[in-house]
Amino acid sequence: MSFEPIIDVAEDADDLGARAAAWIAGRIAAAPGRFALCLSGGSTPRDVYARLAAAPLRERVDWSGVHLFWGDERFVPRDDERSNYRMAWDALIARVAIPRQQVHPLDVEAPTPQEAAARYDRLLHEFYGAPRLDPGRPLFDLALLGLGADGHTASLFPGSRALSADERLAVAVEGVMPEARVSLTYRALEASSEIAFLVCGEAKRQALRRVLDGDPSLPASRVLASAATRDAPLGAVRIFADRAAFPI
Ligand code: 6PG
Repeated sequence: MSFEPIIDVAEDADDLGARAAAWIAGRIAAAPGRFALCLSGGSTPRDVYARLAAAPLRERVDWSGVHLFWGDERFVPRDDERSNYRMAWDALIARVAIPRQQVHPLDVEAPTPQEAAARYDRLLHEFYGAPRLDPGRPLFDLALLGLGADGHTASLFPGSRALSADERLAVAVEGVMPEARVSLTYRALEASSEIAFLVCGEAKRQALRRVLDGDPSLPASRVLASAATRDAPLGAVRIFADRAAFPI
């Protein structure tokens, strides 16, 4: 694989949160104007979001140009403790001056996960301003992703039909987790100028090793393989990992 991700190794979970939050704040601050940030769900990002919403980073970021999206969502009410939107609201959105119309959650009040995916697909295309993505013009400036111990990322799980659902930007995922989900497809995730994985804990060590080795059976591997295919520049994919997940 000619493409190598940048691996930022943190001492522990606390250090990972600090390093990732500072880097994300720097990327937003460096961007002129609008910044489309696609958030990850799960538990690891919570600390990162909380740090972005607290001093000193909160003052460093001009939130007025930031648009928030989600890489996946559990098909549950927004006030449900499983909701990725609720996690981001509690940790970040409620604490920073981001214009509410620039927060773009999935519509979990849609009648079905399939309809929610179709609505998000439309929302993303409307934001992008064109019916088809242009490789030279990214959809997101930065997409944050997690890594499951099984190698999943967003809600793209091993063996799922969602892995091949590339005709759209969002897809319903059912029968894998206790709750239905909606996930961005690879096409949407790969349409990000930069991607940052947040990987913490020994439980992720084997999956991360296999992803870095290019194991195609792990959904997260394709994110790196795709970066290689499109000859993405160095830094297009960054992995924030603590030593427990990436022993060096
Ligand atoms: C979700 C996430 C999922 C998550 C990984 C890692 O909705 O759960 O999108 O892909 O990022 O499962 O989760 P942790 O950060 O909790 O380990």
